[in-house]
Amino acid sequence: MDFYKNAIKRMKSNKSLSMNRKTIAIVLTIIVIVIMIFMYNPSILTPVFIPIVRNRLSSGLDNPKSFGLLKIVYNGDQILFKSKHWDHPREHEPRAIVTVTDINDFITSVIKDNEIGLGESYVHKSWFADDLMIFIQIMCFNFDTNKSVRMPMTLKSKSMDQKNIEYHYDVGNDFYETFLTDKLMAYTCGFWKDPRETLDDSQFRKVDTVLTKLKLKPGMKVLDIGCGWGRIGDYVSNKEKVTVYGLTISRAQYDYMKKNTSVIPIYGDYRDIAKLTNHMKFDAIYSIGMYEAVTQFNGTMFFDQVKQSLKDNGVFVMHCISSIDTSKPQDYMGDSYVLKHIFPGGQIPDVQWIYRHIRDSRMSLIHHEMFGGQHYAETLKHWRQNMLKSRDYLLSRGYKEELIRSYEYYFSSCEAAFRANTMGLSHFVIVNHPIADIRNDGNYLCPSINAN
Ligand SMILES: C[S@@+](CC[C@H](N)C(=O)[O-])C[C@H]1O[C@@H](n2cnc3c(N)ncnc32)[C@H](O)[C@@H]1O
Repeated sequence: MDFYKNAIKRMKSNKSLSMNRKTIAIVLTIIVIVIMIFMYNPSILTPVFIPIVRNRLSSGLDNPKSFGLLKIVYNGDQILFKSKHWDHPREHEPRAIVTVTDINDFITSVIKDNEIGLGESYVHKSWFADDLMIFIQIMCFNFDTNKSVRMPMTLKSKSMDQKNIEYHYDVGNDFYETFLTDKLMAYTCGFWKDPRETLDDSQFRKVDTVLTKLKLKPGMKVLDIGCGWGRIGDYVSNKEKVTVYGLTISRAQYDYMKKNTSVIPIYGDYRDIAKLTNHMKFDAIYSIGMYEAVTQFNGTMFFDQVKQSLKDNGVFVMHCISSIDTSKPQDYMGDSYVLKHIFPGGQIPDVQWIYRHIRDSRMSLIHHEMFGGQHYAETLKHWRQNMLKSRDYLLSRGYKEELIRSYEYYFSSCEAAFRANTMGLSHFVIVNHPIADIRNDGNYLCPSINAN
């Protein structure tokens, strides 16, 4: 009897097992079909994704801590999202209206790639904003991290850097000249005291601040690592009566520098400084806005090269962007598009890594000064305005509308990120001793920007 009961039980449980298997198979098939539809024609799923995007926006923009109001419209008068308090803004609360012209591209790009998708769909002209920078600033402020984006951070090779630089700087010198309109053609932030100042005022103040820290004397030999088009080095060499050598990995910058400046140009990679300069020892070295291309994995290699090329009593001054929240320097909204499309292979430096790299290369940090992001934000605003003023000229020179929109997105998103206080700037003054000490001539006391 028991034998028959057990046999019936076994048959029933096998049946439910096969039922379960069937359900799993059906669910898997549906998932595969959905993925295939999404890959081949993602727009079919737009109606499914709209509520997901709406909820995501609402979670960041409709909570008690949010600041900034947003309205997104599409198909003429359809509202994709409207902040709860849209009609009751607080004092000085920023507001932005986004008009979506291609809802399928907008939605699928954002679902697939978050901020990168947002930037890419802007470049495709799938949406416009009444004020692009304000819109991204609202996003930066309310969406802390862009969790779906992680830039692959590996040890970068010289050939990778070479490719990245060609991609960026060799776009064309005339392209850069339309927005870097200051006499120094500086492609780093200026230091501002007043928004009514010009780009020139701010860039000269920045370089002069570096010079106060370098304390050069006539006749010295100075190296500029990552020297851009060489006009900063030219200014330094004329002002301080020193000889400036400029290192760049961009062929277009090297050619420009050779033709137009007094800087002795060196073409190559920072990992080869000692080799490229025949093991020359410099009285002083500076680097303005190049460390962002080094990344945490190559930091010690960078400082090792500086150490080898600096005289024992020499000083190295480094100016770079630095993250303010060092716990997650890679995660800011406003960076991901730029790191993928504008500066591939770059990384926002973290001050803690820099401290470690300096120590590991047996040099000493004697002064570290931080500046707020507003200096870079103001500079980026000028670059954006300058470039947009030259839009027709750039188009007539054969530059594509997509490139202009991509740089517009880059300038706006970086300005927004700096204004939302996710990044700032740092000056490091470093000496070539493993153990730091006060020099008896007092030369190691570094005045700040405000002392001028
Ligand atoms: C943002 S620009 C700054 C230029 C200039 N210092 C200024 O303030 O305008 C960065 C510079 O670093 C150089 N650079 C980037 N990666 C490099 C590498 N691996 N080796 C040498 N130079 C590099 C670029 O060619 C460019 O000149």
